[in-house]
Amino acid sequence: MEHAPAGEVPAIRLPALIQDVLLWRDPVGQLRGWADRYGAVFTGNLPATGPLLFVGDPTAAREVLFSDPQGSRAGAATARVLPLLGSACVLRQDGNAHKDRRRLIGSAFHGENLRRLRSIGAGIADREMATWPVGKPVALLPHMQKVVFAMITFVVLGLTDPWQVERLHKTVLKMTGPSALSKTWMFPMGDGPVRSKVQRRAQRRQSATDELLTRVVGNRRSGDPSGDTDVLGLLLRQERALGIRTHDTEMNEELLALLLAGYETTAAALGWAIERLTREPLALTQLTESLREGDSTYLRAFIREVLRWRPPVVDAVRELTQPMNLAGYRIPEGALVVVVPLLVHSRDDACPSPDAFQPNRFLDDPRPGKGWIAFGGGRRHCLGSELAMLQMEIVITQMMNGVTFSPSKLRPEQARLLGTVMVPSRGSIAVISRPGPLA
Ligand code: HEM
Repeated sequence: MEHAPAGEVPAIRLPALIQDVLLWRDPVGQLRGWADRYGAVFTGNLPATGPLLFVGDPTAAREVLFSDPQGSRAGAATARVLPLLGSACVLRQDGNAHKDRRRLIGSAFHGENLRRLRSIGAGIADREMATWPVGKPVALLPHMQKVVFAMITFVVLGLTDPWQVERLHKTVLKMTGPSALSKTWMFPMGDGPVRSKVQRRAQRRQSATDELLTRVVGNRRSGDPSGDTDVLGLLLRQERALGIRTHDTEMNEELLALLLAGYETTAAALGWAIERLTREPLALTQLTESLREGDSTYLRAFIREVLRWRPPVVDAVRELTQPMNLAGYRIPEGALVVVVPLLVHSRDDACPSPDAFQPNRFLDDPRPGKGWIAFGGGRRHCLGSELAMLQMEIVITQMMNGVTFSPSKLRPEQARLLGTVMVPSRGSIAVISRPGPLA
């Protein structure tokens, strides 16, 4: 039931700390429950951010995402929800600085660099799959993280040496542990001594990653970047062209932000794909048959439906730089607006029968409609969307070759929040056997 808009945006009437814990424990149930109760636009409040406006209405969501560049800033909003990302990275930029940076690094996420990934991606997935135990329940999300991390380090840093990749991954895992939460919008303590102390610990954990990144950058600086297509190569080519040397901290902030933005999100999406494959026998059969015929149309529809059903990124954020009319409300300048793909995807006016998992809905219309915003939209649309789709296509195809998933008798996995990413709460538990149905 939805409320007709009145003067004041409806607000969740719970202490900020309680809202935070409820959101962390059950983001899907909680966000949907609040939308049923308060309407498609409502105000929440979290200790780390203060008031924020949740938007689940498809039209309002598009108005925010595609709003006039003068009217909102995404970089400033990201600083409020994810200060974990350093201020020099593309996600934290606004205006021309953002446009220039996006144009510079964007080509690493299309064309030649992705063709290179396509040629080595299957090997990365196969190597990891060979380590999975057979015939007993195993949480596959951490394995998805490993595979995706190896692919993203290739695209961003040009790394291919498994030993170097693993070392870097270990340091990143240490920084994305519980203390990293202190640098996200989900930290339950707000600003204050507890948060500062935990953030200092998070900072110390980040230094090992910084050290490794500085070494990788140093090695590459001593070579010739002219033929390189990875992000680091593009940044080094620009340095040479301009005759400058980027400060280590700034370089690391950009590279680390891209690794983080690309890795947890895509791994979570693959985690949800496994969760569905073990519970949707019809989808599994259709996927197997279509891939056997060498047709990837259903695979892409399946991936889009996974991203509709459990969009891993729970928020696309903007800070308003001028007042905005939204769903009948006047939203003031300075408001932190959180467009929630999950809520938009759960509306039957945007997506008929939203609670049913139906990849076929994307078969006739391979370009998802206006109500599909898993990658956000407008000029801040996810820079890595093509890469994410490619990674998922490679990994799922290799899994169908290499392993057979037993149907799961367990309840569907609930979602949990890891920072701003929704992951299956039990880590995508599956029982596998070998070989896969395509072998
Ligand atoms: C399934 C995987 C992924 C999902 C669901 C996802 C989702 C999103 C969303 C919702 C946004 C915010 C868009 C907006 O504010 O309108 C975003 C931004 C971004 N994503 Fe992704 N993403 C994924 C994978 C990746 C990958 C692989 C990369 C590669 C590094 C990446 C890099 C970025 C960057 C750089 C931005 C900021 C763009 C900007 O501010 O201009 N993402 N992503």
